[in-house]
Amino acid sequence: MPFVGRERELRQLNDTLARPPVIVLIEGEAGVGKTRLLRELDGHPMLSGSCHPMRFPYGPIVEALRAARPPRGLNPVTGALRPLLPECAHLLPPAPPPLHNAQVERHRLFRGVLSLLDALRPITLVVEDVHWVDQDTRELLGFLARCLPEAVNLVLTYRAEDLCHPVTELIAHLPPHIDHVELALAPLTAEETELLAKHLLPGSADLWPLTGGLPLAIEELARMLAQGMEPGTPPALRDALRLRLDALPPVARRIVQAAAMLEEPACLHTLTTVAGMLPEQGERGLAEAVRRGLLREWTPGTYGLRQPLARQAVRESITPTIRRRLSRRIEAPTQPVGVLSPREEQVIGLAADGLTNREIAESLFLSRRTVEVHVANALRKLGLTSRRQLSKAK
Ligand SMILES: Nc1ncnc2c1ncn2[C@@H]1O[C@H](COP(=O)(O)OP(=O)(O)O)[C@@H](O)[C@H]1O
Ligand SMILES: [Mg+2]
Repeated sequence: MPFVGRERELRQLNDTLARPPVIVLIEGEAGVGKTRLLRELDGHPMLSGSCHPMRFPYGPIVEALRAARPPRGLNPVTGALRPLLPECAHLLPPAPPPLHNAQVERHRLFRGVLSLLDALRPITLVVEDVHWVDQDTRELLGFLARCLPEAVNLVLTYRAEDLCHPVTELIAHLPPHIDHVELALAPLTAEETELLAKHLLPGSADLWPLTGGLPLAIEELARMLAQGMEPGTPPALRDALRLRLDALPPVARRIVQAAAMLEEPACLHTLTTVAGMLPEQGERGLAEAVRRGLLREWTPGTYGLRQPLARQAVRESITPTIRRRLSRRIEAPTQPVGVLSPREEQVIGLAADGLTNREIAESLFLSRRTVEVHVANALRKLGLTSRRQLSKAK
């Protein structure tokens, strides 16, 4: 399969891994190319395992170590790994006797992993998708990170948007005495997207606007086009996105749906208005949608889906009733519930009836200046730019 771009990242990774022991953190959204980048590395012996949403205890460690072909003369402590690694049990020393204390046995297991890695050096242990790490592996990684042997590297990949507290803690508390390098992978540039599309498709197609440079989206869209299908959201992307949407708290989901219905990235106020929520709900929903990577900040204060394909997928997932409701609020924004003060409500009600500021001032015994301020504030809160739009919004 063709590989494009990432020259700088590959160079940096190669240089870093050549100076063990080092811990490398590779962060990037799903499908951006973390696994692929590691596959493109040359000359670094690796053992690699992935965390899984099922969070099997020691799952990624078992996956990585079962492929090991250790030399003879291993430390007897590595025998503790026998029950976990039947695939290579014949290469390991006999299993030591049980210890009748779970914590002590666990420590022996951890030392077994350490000792096996030491025997395999130079080696790089890769644990992928640590946002799904199980508790046992997390603790083992914390242990390994603290006493990484000479000529052993540790590489962790993860999606920041799916991280939860214990993993953040693991990453935040990596031991300072071991070098660690962080690498954040961004989507491909427009030129790189074009180059990849050229490799994948016979004719020329501009996949950048729909995919935003996400390699997985480029590949899937190219596959659809090659099969003569209409450009649309590839099923794999659509399903992955829907799963993530379903996992959101309701306020965040509604904000993402509002963003998907809007043509352009929008501010918190507009999103809250279109979602039909209270300001504090909107704020909470937006923060969560951004934290979980469903929305991103495009320009300061404006938020939208990451790629048009994602927007399309979310739009398609909205039920007709909700879609109608959201569209209605886009066409005629109403006030997000509870935003206007009672006075603003009173003033804006009269303005919507067609009264001038002077007439409103007289009828409410206010100064004209005060009325002007109330009208301006209320219009802003309603997401309107002129009072002429008021009759429409009523
Ligand atoms: N730089 C690249 N050039 C070409 N294809 C790429 C590139 N990066 C990723 N891909 C392809 O995109 C798909 C998703 O990449 P992957 O590495 O699995 O993403 P991640 O591990 O970040 O979820 C894979 O099929 C991969 O081969
Ligand atoms: Mg991957």
